[in-house]
Amino acid sequence: MAVPAMEWIVDSCRLLAGMAEEFEREQPFAGLRIGAAIHLEPKTATLLWTLARGGAEVVATGNLRSTQAAAVAFLREQGITVVGDGARDVQTQDTCLRQVLATEPHLLLDNGGDLFLRYLDNPYRGLLGGTEETTSGRARLLPVRERIERPVLVINDSPIKQFAENAHAVGQSVLESFLRITNRATNGRRVTVVGYGACGRGIARNFAQAHARVAVWETEPVRRLEALFDGYAAPGRQEAFSSAEIIVTATGTPGILTKAELPLLADGVILANAGHLPWEIDVPGLLAHPDVLTCTEPTAGIQTLALSNGSRVHILAEGHMVNLNGPSPLGNSVESMDIGFALQARCLEAIAAGRVPADQCVVPVPHQIDGIVAEAYLELTEGS
Ligand SMILES: NC(=O)c1ccc[n+]([C@@H]2O[C@H](COP(=O)([O-])OP(=O)(O)OC[C@H]3O[C@@H](n4cnc5c(N)ncnc54)[C@H](O)[C@@H]3O)[C@@H](O)[C@H]2O)c1
Repeated sequence: MAVPAMEWIVDSCRLLAGMAEEFEREQPFAGLRIGAAIHLEPKTATLLWTLARGGAEVVATGNLRSTQAAAVAFLREQGITVVGDGARDVQTQDTCLRQVLATEPHLLLDNGGDLFLRYLDNPYRGLLGGTEETTSGRARLLPVRERIERPVLVINDSPIKQFAENAHAVGQSVLESFLRITNRATNGRRVTVVGYGACGRGIARNFAQAHARVAVWETEPVRRLEALFDGYAAPGRQEAFSSAEIIVTATGTPGILTKAELPLLADGVILANAGHLPWEIDVPGLLAHPDVLTCTEPTAGIQTLALSNGSRVHILAEGHMVNLNGPSPLGNSVESMDIGFALQARCLEAIAAGRVPADQCVVPVPHQIDGIVAEAYLELTEGS
């Protein structure tokens, strides 16, 4: 193994390590090709390597802008085909995704719906089904599920993924990324979290635990009320945006912070996005606003917009997922991803074995698989 970081991560993914040994014996993917489009970083590389040990031929490409060279080097060293070296624009990413699909994989491992949507442009008979990792991907695939006609299991909708990754790990890593990129304190800072789903709750909790004053803006009144009962300020939208020194978006929907919101923002506000797609902060729209005079990069991972009224707006990671971008991004904790990827591997194994019917399309992970993964993690940490 060439890369020390990779060695540490592979070592830390204890669930996947156990499965890799089992897969090596059982060969559940023998004769099958798996096409993957996912952030290529050390933890996902460990997942792909685990699948390859189960006999799969893996052809992978990265999501937009999150590919890490060390992970690509590791995968290629293990004989896994990586298409491209990390797309940084939509056009290049589209080309890479289509190259993966041109190999007609039997199983797709998708992250954001990119592969399944392109599969529908050019369907082929050999596809057995696959997995989708994210909320955003589920939202894109639900309207086309009738046309997919194959099992697609949504990892995000497993209760285990919801609490282990979204509710706990995302909050930790977004806080870690804010500190890493800005080197600014959170103590006493007014932070507005936009979206109070699983990720937003964790982000609010972690910033509050880091002594920030947290407010929540959420379109669902019931969730906004929940935020209030959890101890956060829950002001109206205008107040939530204008009072904030730091705004973190975690909604999965586009256009949360656009040129329309620019006049609301306080001088020196720092904007960060935790949602999957780089559309929650409309960076191109903000940059094109006539009041924006200049955009500079005072340090890696921060864009500073100077406005004609003398105020400044800072954007982290150009509006991309803050915990997977900027200098030396770590992403979510190894343990949370190990659990999520164990779900991924078990779901792909079940589909490969023909155990998931075609009507199980864009549905949550089967309860039985949740149970198997929960038992395995408990056994590792607490004993049987
Ligand atoms: N950064 C990461 O590592 C990471 C990990 C997991 C998920 N995600 C992404 O984070 C996003 C949120 O995921 P989640 O699981 O919390 O989703 P969720 O559906 O549980 O919560 C999203 C919340 O945002 C609210 N919302 C939607 N539009 C809004 C708007 N315009 N203004 C205010 N609130 C609005 C919804 O009502 C909902 O409560 C998704 O894009 C998901 O893919 C990121």
